[in-house]
Amino acid sequence: MAQTVLEVVDIKKSFGAVEALKGVSMEIAAGEIHCLAGENGCGKSTLIKVISGVYAPDAGHIEFGDKVYSKLSPIESIMNGIQVIYQDFSIFPNLSVMENLAFNSELKDKRKFVNWKRFRTIAEEATSKIDFKVDLDAKVGDLSVADKQLVAISRALMFNAKLIIMDEPTTALTRKEVNSLFKIILALKEQGISILFVSHKLNEVFEISERFTILRSGEKIITGITSDLDDKKFTYYMTGREFEDIRFTPQYASQEPLLEVQDLGLSGCYSNVNFTLKKGEILGITGLLGSGRTELALSLFGVKKADQGRILINGKEATIDSVISAINHKIGYVPDDRLSEGLFLPQSIGDNITVSDLDNISNNFGILDKAERKAEIKKWIDELAIATTDPDNPCSTLSGGNQQKVVLAKWLARNLDILILNGPTVGVDIGSKHDIHLILQSLAHKGLGIIIISDDLPEIMQNCSNVLIMKGGSVIAQLNPKDIEENQLSQYMM
Ligand SMILES: Nc1ncnc2c1ncn2[C@@H]1O[C@H](COP(=O)(O)OP(=O)(O)OP(=O)(O)O)[C@@H](O)[C@H]1O
Ligand SMILES: [Mg+2]
Repeated sequence: MAQTVLEVVDIKKSFGAVEALKGVSMEIAAGEIHCLAGENGCGKSTLIKVISGVYAPDAGHIEFGDKVYSKLSPIESIMNGIQVIYQDFSIFPNLSVMENLAFNSELKDKRKFVNWKRFRTIAEEATSKIDFKVDLDAKVGDLSVADKQLVAISRALMFNAKLIIMDEPTTALTRKEVNSLFKIILALKEQGISILFVSHKLNEVFEISERFTILRSGEKIITGITSDLDDKKFTYYMTGREFEDIRFTPQYASQEPLLEVQDLGLSGCYSNVNFTLKKGEILGITGLLGSGRTELALSLFGVKKADQGRILINGKEATIDSVISAINHKIGYVPDDRLSEGLFLPQSIGDNITVSDLDNISNNFGILDKAERKAEIKKWIDELAIATTDPDNPCSTLSGGNQQKVVLAKWLARNLDILILNGPTVGVDIGSKHDIHLILQSLAHKGLGIIIISDDLPEIMQNCSNVLIMKGGSVIAQLNPKDIEENQLSQYMM
């Protein structure tokens, strides 16, 4: 085994009653690509924050070669070559690329005066290390997600990083962007830099990492060599459970159409979309980014009003020109970006489920008394198995998968007829994903009409009985997943 750059030994960390890390040990070798995996809430981010000096561990220690720390300050972590790229990248959107890059380095050197010429040289050096071609004067807020990430990586490289930790770096990237990120990771390895890569996507773990470590409920389950891993083992290590295939078969509550979409179109986005949705059916809409799938969903929810065609609900023509009109027609929408559109993170879990501006609109819930409200919250927390000790905790304390369940609960508590979900399990781990799929299937069996918009093909194959494939704003095929293979579906999309 090569030299180790970092070793953590028996790290414990609790938040109140939650034991986020229960004695985790692992080590990272020089120049290795190591994947840290585990379900939502298993302690990955907490471990990273211990390594980067954000949290002091309750017990255990951190070693860099001969140096042993029982707790670490952020500066000490940086001085030992650790750089973390968080999911939000911690960049300043209002500043230029150059300012973002030079900012920390100037801070580190404790310079008082800004030397713009020096700034530019530093910024050019940093971006050229990963062959990142960018306008240094562009405002970072205007860059794509992938480019923002490259700014964060360039910045990490300015500190003689020995280990770069990336917390779920691929969540918001397209497949093409993931490919170029992986190229950069390999190039960094060539330069002798170790990478700790957090992901719970099996295909990514296989593709990029040499070794992996899996955490479950705050404990380390295994560190191993990626080539020894397969799908079944990975899922089992992550969840402690084995899953059977759960293909959806609709049990229509009625043969009458619940929702009919006829020649629907929105100029510049999509056109001539036709489908029907029955009670008890799950319809899938798939296609690549830019295929028009999201705009179509937004039209059905009144956010982007369609300008051609008709929508019928229960056989009657419906005008859906605003979110209010959609809600009045008992349509709910779970957005693809739960963090900016779906949830109020600082508010409690309970409030997120039962109280929101929707109530003023729909008046479904307006006058629940305290006891009713408590019972309603408990019902949904139990029903969806939301992992929390107390519904009064802020939503921000939940893991990603559980936050997604809160968004679902918020809508389900409103007694809908039609639920539209855009990317229902993006950023959600295997176990919670399986749970969410089971929940959706059982909701359909209870008579809800569901539309899933997703480019996760296994998700579409398992959960839908009818699939529309969109490309360039048109529906290019409509099929039953039972009649085709997954790779045929992906060929249609390309
Ligand atoms: N600041 C905090 N206060 C209270 N509880 C916390 C805090 N941070 C994390 N937790 C809890 O500690 C546990 C581990 O959380 P952590 O964020 O490390 O999980 P994770 O593996 O990164 O999950 P995800 O895949 O969702 O990002 C969870 O139960 C979480 O709710
Ligand atoms: Mg995390």
